[in-house]
Order: sequence, then structure tokens, then C-alpha cells
Amino acid sequence: MKYRRMPIEIESPEQMGYDTIKYNLTESSCADLAMSELDLDLQGLLVAYCDHRGKVELRDLIARDSGLASRDEVLMTPGAAGALFIIATTLLGPDDHLLVVRPNYATNLETPRAIGCHVDIYDLKFEEGFDIDLARLTAMLHPRTKYLSVTIPSNPTGVVWSEARLRQLIALAEDRGIKLLVDETYREMTFAGPLPVAASLSPAAISVSSLSKTYGLPGLRMGWIATKDPALQEKFLAAKEQIVICNSVVDEEISWQFLRRKAVLLPGIRREIAERFALVRQWYGAQDELEWIEPQGGVVAFPRIKPGLRVDVDRFYRVLQEQHGTFVGPGHWFEMDRRFMRIGFGWPKREHLVAGLQAISAAVRSART
Ligand SMILES: Cc1ncc(COP(=O)(O)O)c(C=O)c1O
Repeated sequence: MKYRRMPIEIESPEQMGYDTIKYNLTESSCADLAMSELDLDLQGLLVAYCDHRGKVELRDLIARDSGLASRDEVLMTPGAAGALFIIATTLLGPDDHLLVVRPNYATNLETPRAIGCHVDIYDLKFEEGFDIDLARLTAMLHPRTKYLSVTIPSNPTGVVWSEARLRQLIALAEDRGIKLLVDETYREMTFAGPLPVAASLSPAAISVSSLSKTYGLPGLRMGWIATKDPALQEKFLAAKEQIVICNSVVDEEISWQFLRRKAVLLPGIRREIAERFALVRQWYGAQDELEWIEPQGGVVAFPRIKPGLRVDVDRFYRVLQEQHGTFVGPGHWFEMDRRFMRIGFGWPKREHLVAGLQAISAAVRSART
């Protein structure tokens, strides 16, 4: 493995220091929760090794929620990040081929690169609404392709493909005898209601998700892999056992006690996201410097400074950070032009969100040439 640190992690707010940022619009999750908000009872918990697949009741709950047949189809992992690592290292060797859709969450690109396999990238285009041209995608598959990697809803664009598109991708994977990896970390935040869990539709699909984004619990490091392919799930388990044996029993217990209240909690979370998105839309409608493909899910948007506008992009980021104390996710975090920026609207206080959005407009204006 040839590991390299990713800009999105090197430049992340937790590495830069939260206290250096006034308006933090870099985050891709809902606001972090405090332990006191979780209503937990952990006193009786034995701090032992636990079920290597993950707490039975927790997997039952996730399986039921995901339209899966049994808890055996769910493997708990250290975050969605851990899930993606397990999947890539299980399925890919140096001679294998992978097709990844970009822009994407950086780990979906970087771990396969660290493995040294052949990585082809399907670049989504702004002009095509960040949707897929199925014929162009199909032409990029290869006899040695092991899987096709997509993220729905997308990080960083917030675009959600249709259910028909998801089913086409699954049919393509089935037809080619490959796997479709769907990173569904933002699935429950889809504005119009979530697509089916991909893994529930076919053994050719692998789904990944976590508690980090929707529930504001990224510090728990609790995610999962869902697949209806038992032999593959056994290999994923082997990988997990060699990395961590099992998850933290504390994290699993907290996750279960929390997720039991999901039916009560989720409507409020979705309402909060809708209200925040309305603020972003209001700002977007009142400015003329940026353009976007309107997000349909998640808590991020990925606008770009209009191509016709003459702007010194480095100056834009400098002014934004130094004069306005505002941070966004610059395009290079996603191997995209730096005129693109990811704006996270789920995490900051509402007044900070509004101030940060105004700062973006002001910084673009002051960086015009
Ligand atoms: C699409 C996507 N997948 C996976 C992750 C990793 O999340 P975690 O490991 O916190 O569950 C992220 C985090 O930003 C993400 O955006």
C-alpha cells in the first residue's frame, strides 16, 4: 500500500484547529451532538470485545430499516471510511481495474490508488447536471473491472440520481458480473425521501453508510457495509478482524441506544435541513456570481464561480479566509477546478451560515479582476 494524505484531511477544520475559523462552512454533516443530548445508559456495559460483525440488536435495526432480509447482511465498521477501506482492500489487487465516478468523496479514489490497481475515472460534468451518460460509462468498463464506485446522494454536489438510474447501474453490474459500490452516507438526507438501499435490490450491489452525517455523530466512528452476497460479507469480516477485530463496544452501544429513537429523531433532523437549505437557496437566488446544480439531498452544495467571470481564485480564498474568517471546501479537495467550492450548510449555527454565505459573495466581488 502506498499511502498519501488527502488534501481534504490535511486541510480539514479538526486538523487546522476549529478556533481558527469564524464561519465554518466546510463540514458535510449535521451539527455534532454532545453526549448529554444522547440520553444514554452505559453504566452496566461490559467493556469487552464484542460480536465481530457488530451488536446483534444494532444490525437487526439497520437491516430492518434498509429493507434487508437479515442482520447477516450488515457488517458494522469503523465509520463509512472504514467500510470503504475494507471493500477496496478486499476486492482490489494491483492487477485489477476500478471505475470511479468523480467528483466523489476522496477516499473512494485514494484507497484504490494506494493499492496500486488500475483506476479509471468517469468525470461527471456540470453541463450534464452531474448525471451519468450510461453509454459512456459502460464503454469504460474493462474485463478486469472489479467494481464501479458511486456516491448517492453525491458528496460534494448533493445531486441525487433517479431510482431508475440506480436500477440501471445495478443491472449493468449484474450483466457484467461486477459489483456496484454505492456510498449512501447521505441517503437519509435526500430531500424527496431516500432511494432504496442499493444492497437490498441485488447481490451485485454493496451499500455503505454511517451515523456520522445525518445524526451528527462522526466522532463515534460507526458505519456499516450491507451486501446480500454472504461469501463476500465473510471476506469483509476477515478484513475487519485483521484491522480491528471488532468495533468499540462503547460506540456500538451508544449507536444502538441512539438509533432506537430514530423514528422520533429523523423528522426533526429533516426539517432542520430543509430550513437551512431554504436559507442557502435564498442567498443563491439573490446573487449573480456563482452557479450550481441544485442539490437534492445531503447538507452540501457545490457551486462554482461563473466561468465568464474574471476572478483571481487564489485571492478569493485568501480574502474569504483572512478577511472574513470563512472556510469552505475548495474544489481541489475533490480534484476539481478551484472555482468550485463545497458549501456545508448543516453544521454551522444558522447565523454563521448566513454570514458565511454573505462572505462568499463579498470575497468573489473583491477578487474580480
Ligand atoms: C461520501 C462519504 N463517504 C464516507 C465518508 C466517511 O464518513 P465516516 O467515516 O465519518 O462515516 C464521508 C465523510 O465525509 C463521505 O462524505
